[in-house]
Amino acid sequence: MKTILIFVSTLDGKVTKWGNPHVKLWSSHQDQDYYKNVWNESRLIVMGSTTFNAETFNPSTHHQLIVMTRQPDTYKGLQVPNQIEFTNESPAEIFTRFNNKGYEQMLVVGGPHIATSFLKEQLIDELWLTLEPKIFGTGGNFVTDVNLDINLHLIHCEKVNEQGTLITKYTVLKNKIKL
Ligand SMILES: NC(=O)c1ccc[n+]([C@@H]2O[C@H](COP(=O)([O-])OP(=O)(O)OC[C@H]3O[C@@H](n4cnc5c(N)ncnc54)[C@H](OP(=O)(O)O)[C@@H]3O)[C@@H](O)[C@H]2O)c1
Repeated sequence: MKTILIFVSTLDGKVTKWGNPHVKLWSSHQDQDYYKNVWNESRLIVMGSTTFNAETFNPSTHHQLIVMTRQPDTYKGLQVPNQIEFTNESPAEIFTRFNNKGYEQMLVVGGPHIATSFLKEQLIDELWLTLEPKIFGTGGNFVTDVNLDINLHLIHCEKVNEQGTLITKYTVLKNKIKL
């Protein structure tokens, strides 16, 4: 199963503006359209509880949404069988469960804590990163403040508007990771 981590970031690596969780307030329309398409084509989507709580996610028969939380019981009322699930499994346990079920792709949509957990366990194959030509100074980075040493290889780069928003894709060179 191929695992893809997707983020939109500023040039200084921020995925939130000054701590405001609403990404669509600053991401370009081109990125929002791109993200919507990627989302629509993804059967299996994984996110952290903070990212889940930052937006409204409607259940859909087209997607299996996996929300990672250490307190799944508090979300019992929001669970929709085969559509929205809350789990305290580790990234490796989630990966193994859906890999064994025959899923071909898993989209990890953040946030930074979940991204870092997957990266640390070497479970990300590709990073799909949109770079918005902006600098915020403060706000969350797309990984948390831990020591990582991950090498990637650029496989796609497309300028999608006049201002210079770049949609990029990288493969993670897993044998280069040292933790
Ligand atoms: N720009 C972008 O592309 C983008 C994408 C996604 C998110 N975001 C932004 O990022 C922010 C949220 O990011 P975040 O890093 O604070 O939160 P997050 O990664 O969405 O969720 C973290 C939470 O997930 C739960 N959790 C369960 N298992 C975990 C594990 N193995 N490792 C870490 N956490 C685990 C914990 O909450 P419990 O208390 O439930 O256990 C933890 O506090 C939001 O503001 C969102 O808007 C931006």
